[in-house]
Amino acid sequence: MSGHGTPIPMSSRCVGPLKGQADVPGDKSISHRSILFGAMAVGETTVTGLLEGDDVLDTAKAMRAFGADVARGDDGVWSIHGVGVGGFAEPDQVIDCGNSGTGVRLIMGAMATTPIAATFTGDASLNKRPMGRVTDPLALFGAQAYGRSQGRLPLTIVGAKAPVPVVYRTPMPSAQVKSAVMLAGLNCPGQTVVIEAEATRDHTERMLQGFGADVMVEDTPEGRAITLTGEPELKPQTIIVPRDPSSAAFPVCAALIVEGSDVLVPNIGLNPTRAGLFYTLQDMGADLTFENMREEGGEPVADLRARYSPNLKGIDVPPERAASMIDEYPILSVVAANAEGITKMHGVKELRVKESDRIDAMAVGLRAAGVTVDEGEDWWHVHGTGGAVTGGCVAESHLDHRIAMSFLILGMAAKNGMAVDDGSPIATSFPIFEGLMGALGAHITRDNR
Ligand code: S3P
Repeated sequence: MSGHGTPIPMSSRCVGPLKGQADVPGDKSISHRSILFGAMAVGETTVTGLLEGDDVLDTAKAMRAFGADVARGDDGVWSIHGVGVGGFAEPDQVIDCGNSGTGVRLIMGAMATTPIAATFTGDASLNKRPMGRVTDPLALFGAQAYGRSQGRLPLTIVGAKAPVPVVYRTPMPSAQVKSAVMLAGLNCPGQTVVIEAEATRDHTERMLQGFGADVMVEDTPEGRAITLTGEPELKPQTIIVPRDPSSAAFPVCAALIVEGSDVLVPNIGLNPTRAGLFYTLQDMGADLTFENMREEGGEPVADLRARYSPNLKGIDVPPERAASMIDEYPILSVVAANAEGITKMHGVKELRVKESDRIDAMAVGLRAAGVTVDEGEDWWHVHGTGGAVTGGCVAESHLDHRIAMSFLILGMAAKNGMAVDDGSPIATSFPIFEGLMGALGAHITRDNR
């Protein structure tokens, strides 16, 4: 599969324990929102610790095309001079969001209630993903979408001239859909309400409140109801991006399955809408501790300490935890393959519409590596080998960063190592992955095949 330029075949193998400190990059979800909300504020927003991965850089480029001034200072601090709510200019070029579902869906929402048109595209992975989940609610505001079949990219949104606020119940647990609706509501008179049956990551709610918007969150019998009052003036912010728990997952899980390892991953946000993996690992018997628990910027933060855990047990992962660990199932399946017994993951059909069909991508690669995997439309079971994964094969990454990294971590504990056909997508979310894992003692190579 192509889409990121030249594929980079990579492999990993077991060379001994992983030890030391892993300083993972900034949170991807918060980085996208920092740029986007900064672009909708009036004045200068500064962002420290931004994830400088391809996904976020594509969002920065997009915001420039909509008229905001987005620049990186020599000190690594980003500055965004926003155009204000409703102030987007019509882009004179197609907006290419690369690999990023978050980027394209949030930007479509943000421009849909401004009377401009914009055409969006992405790479081969993004152009396969469903966009009707966003364009359907945007149509209720009065925006029109013209795309390919099943609402896929490339597509053009013509923003509403006289937008009306909506009450919308999200049909699937999705922070991207929730956020797109809220962002559309910003440039609408009156109150926009989003109701989600299951709580998904709440960065949009928290950050818009920080930018001065009136956002009210209530638990109701139907679920979490979020009420946003339209037409606020967003005030520029000074943002420090916390480190990404979804990136921390990789060195943490590697340490649990590589014999003799002891790794510290400092300053990781434990926002309850994001931290499900860490509790699941503890339930499996992982030697994973939260040190120096504290609160920063209103969020729980801790240093994660992960040590080799030879007695991991398969568990039934509670389906109600799925939204809080939705990006972590691929790496969880790697830990499950090394545990004793079966790990059962249910209520996870959203995994089929991520950067790849993540159940299928992991199942195929794990089976080739000697692991038994059963699957259905919204569930999968991984049969643990008790630390005896054979490996020794090439897994396809399907343009999906988390699939590529998961198989490279698997290779660090597998008897014959593992390879991936293309590690280039790793740059979308974790550009320092190879160096960081190498500094802990891992052996990852770029191969000429
Ligand atoms: C994200 C929401 C999730 C997640 C993605 C980031 C966000 O997607 O998988 O990596 O920043 O809002 P869905 O909204 O599709 O669940």
